[in-house]
Amino acid sequence: PADLFGARRNSRGVELADEQALEPLLAAIAAVGSDFGIAASIIDGADAAGAARLLLSPVDGRTEIGRAVDADAETVRKAVASAAEGFRAWSAAPAETRAAALERAADLLEERLPAFLAVLALEAGKTLADGVAEVREAVDFCRYYAAEARRLFAAPVAMPGPTGEENRLAYRGRGVFATIAPWNFPLAIFVGQTAAALAAGNAVVAKPAEQTPLTGAMAVRLLHEAGVPASALALLVGDGTAGAALTADPRIAGVAFTGSTDTAFAINRALAAKRGPIVPLIAETGGLNAMIVDATALGEQVTDDVITSAFRSAGQRCSALRLLFVQDDVADHMIDLVRGAAAELKVGDPRRPDTDVGPIIDREQTEKLAVHVAAWQGRGGVLFSGRTPEGELAGGTYFAPTVIELPDAAALDREVFGPVLHVVRYKAKDLDRVIGDIAASGYGLTLGIHSRIEATVKRIVERLPVGNVYVNRNMIGAVVGSQPFGGSGLSGTGPKAGGPNYLARFALEQVVSINT
Ligand code: NAD
Ligand code: ALA
Repeated sequence: PADLFGARRNSRGVELADEQALEPLLAAIAAVGSDFGIAASIIDGADAAGAARLLLSPVDGRTEIGRAVDADAETVRKAVASAAEGFRAWSAAPAETRAAALERAADLLEERLPAFLAVLALEAGKTLADGVAEVREAVDFCRYYAAEARRLFAAPVAMPGPTGEENRLAYRGRGVFATIAPWNFPLAIFVGQTAAALAAGNAVVAKPAEQTPLTGAMAVRLLHEAGVPASALALLVGDGTAGAALTADPRIAGVAFTGSTDTAFAINRALAAKRGPIVPLIAETGGLNAMIVDATALGEQVTDDVITSAFRSAGQRCSALRLLFVQDDVADHMIDLVRGAAAELKVGDPRRPDTDVGPIIDREQTEKLAVHVAAWQGRGGVLFSGRTPEGELAGGTYFAPTVIELPDAAALDREVFGPVLHVVRYKAKDLDRVIGDIAASGYGLTLGIHSRIEATVKRIVERLPVGNVYVNRNMIGAVVGSQPFGGSGLSGTGPKAGGPNYLARFALEQVVSINT
């Protein structure tokens, strides 16, 4: 109903099954070309100088898509200094000004859909469907946080004053926020964290992943064009060394990080070792996500949802299904269905509308996956392995969708970040043990349940403090404003992105009590 959402509406994206929409979109993407220029750190609106490294597309391993200039320590200092200066004016601007800039950014993202789809495909290997979903999510984050900024920051909240005092609670920006993003959502997460920090009145130094600087640079230029002052938002291009220098800077007042659990630990340790104010860390990290399928589940629906959850985005989603628990009475049947459907997946050029699975981000990730699968091949656990493309795409970093049967859940103790599904059989009487195994992993990001028994669903949900639980559906693609997203334990600190508690964590709360 309209009153649940107010004036805000989620972006509608593009219906790719509609040829009348698809054809002009493909033509517009082709017209963008494959050269995205230079991504250098952007400080006060100007590109920082330095040696450039060549960026090759994971689609074929040889298309030159641009160059990146990685920041040195001096560039990091300059970026933070510029943002510290820009903080004063931006934090003093009315919430309405900040909200309007984010809404303008959302409009520009929608207008420039073909350019973003092109860079997302060539730099991050995103299929068209994933690219459209990603641009939509970035748009939704901007509009949602704009609406939230108006709700929370437009005016102080009057608190009760039982003794006759006037008590007012107000939010204000903390200072310079570092936002550090992963390569697997180089637009949506990068823009989402940055938009949230800006909406709350902070200046931002935003660092995209080293694999996806071109998308990050395009997004920052767009935010500037939309009305975010250049001094309030700097871009920092570089790898973990630049990220570590950024979080170590004494002027950083908060860190919003999305990436691996190990990196979150490293940042947490670095922040704890610093002198000066205690710096809050918002960390959204990895998962060892499970789905439980019991004997009452509907086979075709499970198959569809397993394939989407495990293999969409080449399994390179934090939310993706890694560990499928199937009740043994139906396991052979379910595994056959999943194997059959996996064999139908088309792995290839992400710009082609018929491609289901695009490339892995780079050679390093592909090799990690290969080592993992080879170990299980040696133990006879691999049930299915698909094919990777040949010919023109042979130099791309593709990995075949793979299904592995494990003897038990303990055999998988870390996130395997790619199109690899692990299956474990369980007996109905052992459901509590399955629940215990999932809890024992320490992760708590997403969980899927396929069961028609309400009591079973309730029992599983109540015992597992997992951030996002999906019942009788797939377990990826949380929708901003409807399915606030984020995990617990090794999967993150919260608050949930795209939810009503997110922005407040980026702000300082101040209470003024006036004796009237
Ligand atoms: P990563 O941890 O390797 O890198 C993430 C970012 O941190 C990059 O920008 C990187 O340069 C930076 N970085 C690395 N070391 C750093 C340090 N010491 N200090 C500061 N910054 C540092 O992660 P990745 O490989 O880019 O992304 C994949 C991971 O992200 C997966 O584990 C996935 O589950 C997770 N992820 C989580 C969510 C979520 O919402 N929970 C969403 C997307 C991805
Ligand atoms: N928010 C993303 C999803 O739900 C990671 O798949």
